[in-house]
Amino acid sequence: MSIENLEQVAQAMVAPGKGIIAVDESTATIKKRMEAVGLENSEENRRKYRQLLLTAPGLGEYISGAILFDETIRQKTDDGRSMVEAMKAAGIIPGIKVDKGTHPLAGSPGELITEGLDGLRERLQEYAKLGAQFAKWRAVINIGEDTPSSAAIEANTHALARYAALCQEVGLVPMVEPEIVMDGKDNVQDLNTSYLVHEEVLHSLFNNLNLFGVMLEGLILKVSMVIPGKYAPKEDQVDAEEVADATVRVFKHAVPAAIAGIVFLSGGQTDLQATQHLNLINAQGPHPWPISFSYGRALVSAALETWAKDQKANYDAAQKTVVERAKENSLAAQGNWKK
Ligand code: 13P
Repeated sequence: MSIENLEQVAQAMVAPGKGIIAVDESTATIKKRMEAVGLENSEENRRKYRQLLLTAPGLGEYISGAILFDETIRQKTDDGRSMVEAMKAAGIIPGIKVDKGTHPLAGSPGELITEGLDGLRERLQEYAKLGAQFAKWRAVINIGEDTPSSAAIEANTHALARYAALCQEVGLVPMVEPEIVMDGKDNVQDLNTSYLVHEEVLHSLFNNLNLFGVMLEGLILKVSMVIPGKYAPKEDQVDAEEVADATVRVFKHAVPAAIAGIVFLSGGQTDLQATQHLNLINAQGPHPWPISFSYGRALVSAALETWAKDQKANYDAAQKTVVERAKENSLAAQGNWKK
């Protein structure tokens, strides 16, 4: 794929009023989500569930792309099409999670490093053949009493830059995700701490992307919002406007205007918060970049619950539920959402 193609795909991913749906939970994570609603974590249930989401009628009106897990990109729908064909027919760009998950970072207790660079070029080439047009890699930064360390930030952003350069070499748009976690049991940070960590991580990330020659116009940043930790004391919790202000401020300080767009993850926020914050952030626009969503939980949790209650009778209702959540977030991505 040429440079122009990378840019075109990246821009299409954040076209006005469109966002991404993340259905790339690893088998271990989807097990937790399925078991929490009383479903068996079988391959067939995972296939049906992802099919339900990706083929929901009308989803493509609000959703530009979907991030798949390795298993899903190889699966077929009930009518025998590949999942990728079904998505393309719905106007949804296929994406793929390519990191191999987090592992303890040696020498840095409590910190994580994302693995998966070995053999990545060949895996990316295979995913491109299977129809993927973008690829996601998630780094996890934990805030604790003495963390994050500079070592953890540097190791993770260095890996993100190496993966992003490989993606562009193969013709895939990198969706570069440094997640600064807000809902871990030790997450008592206040808004300012969250701001400072986001700023440091984003500076380090863009330094490394620059070092490795990554073309910013063909890249999407997926990131957390600047928000206090879930277990911060009550006096450190803030209202939605403050989250929006701090998030926009850190982007202005640390994210080059050249990138194709910014999208958020939703982890740790309620469905309502994820939508409300996105809306307030966009209501402050116009910004130098499109700012949209790449939600997993905030888009799919309600649909999964509905489906789990009766997999046959509630299939259509669950599809309507995910489209409704996509529509609300599409409005929020334009600053036009109303409660
Ligand atoms: P959540 O929105 O559930 O955080 O998931 C998005 C994602 O892809 C995290 O990597």
